Amino acid sequence: MQDSQLSSEALPQHIAIIMDGNGRWAKERGKPRVFGHKKGVDAVRKTISTAAKLDIKAVTLFAFSSENWRRPEDEVGLLMELFITVLSAEVKRLHKNNIRLRIIGDKTRFSQRLQKKIAQAEELTRNNTGMTLNVAANYGGKWDITQAAKVLAQQVEQGELAPEDITEEVMSKHVAMSDLPDVDLLIRTSGECRISNFLLWQLAYAEMYFTPLYWPEFGEDSLIEAISWFVNRERRFGCTGEQIKALMDK
Ligand code: IPE
Ligand code: IPE
Ligand code: MG
Repeated sequence: MQDSQLSSEALPQHIAIIMDGNGRWAKERGKPRVFGHKKGVDAVRKTISTAAKLDIKAVTLFAFSSENWRRPEDEVGLLMELFITVLSAEVKRLHKNNIRLRIIGDKTRFSQRLQKKIAQAEELTRNNTGMTLNVAANYGGKWDITQAAKVLAQQVEQGELAPEDITEEVMSKHVAMSDLPDVDLLIRTSGECRISNFLLWQLAYAEMYFTPLYWPEFGEDSLIEAISWFVNRERRFGCTGEQIKALMDK
């Protein structure tokens, strides 16, 4: 296949990533788990810039699950601090790159300080027209579907909606990221092959890519490899990483 034959339409529109393996990566290097989380931030930056260069419409990153509160208190505390620091440090750059940032998940459990940072970052980048970056924090797929059900139940209670009018389309409008296309490529690092209560509704037809790399090891080439795998699965022809890279330079 010639380079020119691969068009950006073949690329996934919405990539979701379960960024896993920070702890094991650190442990293998004799360091505390938090060292892995800090290193993971570099991988986040690389992923965002590569996806933006490829004109991917949306990227959704799993940063903290609703189950992650069960981790030791000091690890949770550090993750929250890291979240605040990274948000403060990166939001300007995201804005400069025309990226719209949104946090999905139940934000009510976060500190007031963090909630305020999140609101400011979302507000600043709200009208950006480039890539949408969704960060899933205190997110759970079951929570997402449940909160949508609650909204619809309230509408029924108030006589605004009849139960027989609850269709898949109506439900779709009330789960997270209803304005974006469903995820077409899910990536999970660290060799685990499960969803861990990440997006459920939105993954209904996603291709799932599992790599043994730990999240801090995931770089530009790793994302390109995952995307080539996706293109080859979807289109049943052999495109190369080089062809994907060629799209970045356009
Ligand atoms: C993923 O890495 C990051 C978060 C869940 C916040 P882990 O912390 O789960 O690392 P492992 O899976 O224990 O190696
Ligand atoms: C999923 O990873 C959550 C995030 C990446 C934020 P976990 O490491 O928490 O998932 P399990 O516990 O292995 O299923
Ligand atoms: Mg893990």
